[in-house]
Amino acid sequence: MKSNLRQNKILILDFGSQYTQLIARRIREIGVFSELTPFDIDLDYIREFDPKGIILSGGPDTVTNTDSARVNPIIFELNIPILGICYGMQTMSVQLGGNAKAASKHEYGFASVNVEHSSSVLLGPIVTDNNKSLDVWMSHGIEVSKVPDGFEIVASSSNCSIAAIENSKKNFFGLQFHPEVTHTTKGKEILERFVDICDCQKEWTVKNIVKNTISDLRETLGDKKILLGLSGGVDSSVVAALLHKAIGDQLTCIFVDNGLLRLNEGDEVMETFSNNMGVKVIRANAQEKFYSALSEESDPEAKRKIIGRCFIEVFDDEAKKLKDISFLAQGTIYPDVIESAGSKTGKAKVIKSHHNVGGLPEDLKFELVEPLRDLFKDEVREIGLELGIPYEMLYRHPFPGPGLGVRILGCVKKEYADILRLADNIFMEELYKADLYHQVNQAFAVFLPVKSVGVTGDERRYDFVISLRAVETIDFMTARWARLPYDFLDTVSNRIINEIHRVSRVVYDISGKPPATIEWE
Ligand code: XMP
Repeated sequence: MKSNLRQNKILILDFGSQYTQLIARRIREIGVFSELTPFDIDLDYIREFDPKGIILSGGPDTVTNTDSARVNPIIFELNIPILGICYGMQTMSVQLGGNAKAASKHEYGFASVNVEHSSSVLLGPIVTDNNKSLDVWMSHGIEVSKVPDGFEIVASSSNCSIAAIENSKKNFFGLQFHPEVTHTTKGKEILERFVDICDCQKEWTVKNIVKNTISDLRETLGDKKILLGLSGGVDSSVVAALLHKAIGDQLTCIFVDNGLLRLNEGDEVMETFSNNMGVKVIRANAQEKFYSALSEESDPEAKRKIIGRCFIEVFDDEAKKLKDISFLAQGTIYPDVIESAGSKTGKAKVIKSHHNVGGLPEDLKFELVEPLRDLFKDEVREIGLELGIPYEMLYRHPFPGPGLGVRILGCVKKEYADILRLADNIFMEELYKADLYHQVNQAFAVFLPVKSVGVTGDERRYDFVISLRAVETIDFMTARWARLPYDFLDTVSNRIINEIHRVSRVVYDISGKPPATIEWE
């Protein structure tokens, strides 16, 4: 589904830097569509994509090694502007006849760069006559030591004499620092300048994306019917809202209540989509099926598989009752696409593998529609807001596919899930009340099926244990346990023990990731 919103676009060739996705996000924030591909993508793909400019990302390779990653040299003959960032600048320099060497001082962190050429096409308009320095984020151990013919040095720092280069005739630019990270104070302006040099119209806005996606969906679906598995998570919710707006009643959603959702979540999903938005949602109340399948299984991975299998069975049963469905919608988003794509040479690194359960039956013979396939999570959220989905629903912490199933340790029972739901809800209420919810990236309660002695008044108690978990993280691959204030934890603990009859003790998880994972199972 391509629309004219993507006529002006930038291609980012990914050498594996942890910041590559950020480059694409920044370019899109500026209002220009950008796509990211492995650095060794076929030239045919690049030609067909027809970018107005190319960015070469940073990466972990050492450019002075003979087997380090190189871009197809033909891109330098496409007659379009090219911006090399960090490794991208180094490989561009080496490939065009320059040189690179190990830096005398490795530089990781803040640096001040002086723009020596105020006539620089890229950086000139960013600085003023009075202030030619830029605060930037550097991260490199190699630096360009000789610029290729036709290039000049336009900026340097005290540790790096060649911090920015350009060939103003060809519009080739190289930056040793990272304009995509917010630590580089004028980074976005620099990227915007590049986009202007590429002569890109800034049409990639939330309103335009919604308008185009809806018209694309109408064209693809015609008067045919489409089915969607609605989970209440951000992605499927936004797909539901988009499809509903595009084709109304031709959409049917199946919402599987697996008994492992948060307190009142099932009702809230129905309220938002069915009652308020008028979306056709079938609620499959399958709690008993899930509880009974999980009642004697304690192995975490086996539990995940059971939950996945039960989901497919329930979804399948409901789908079979429907007539004349031609399409199946899925909430795949762009990072899922990028992260599961490999590189031709195997050099581009797959940064994150993810473990989603709840995939759909393979034998459902529907044509797949993935309206969010090109979008980053922050774009998906903004589209959700534009379509009227409540803020709280779009900006909630991530919730795993197997839900409370992996937060009740060992065998799952309804009784345990009910206790955990109440405890988790108290924790969330207090986090919101104390304005701490958005200070942490994921927080939840965990049910421990062990009993501990307590005392309330004169009465001895022998009841279950709840652990609270809250983490700060950027990518969920590593995490630091959140230093929540003691008084806050005290309030949460008191409320849980006083309000939930079957809990006698609350503990706080102070394990980082690694070595612990974020979830307990
Ligand atoms: P871990 O526990 O691996 O979690 O440190 C990292 C992130 O992934 C989420 N997570 C899951 N998400 N299905 C999901 O959809 C799963 O089976 C699953 N296990 C963990 C977890 O909540 C955290 O955000």
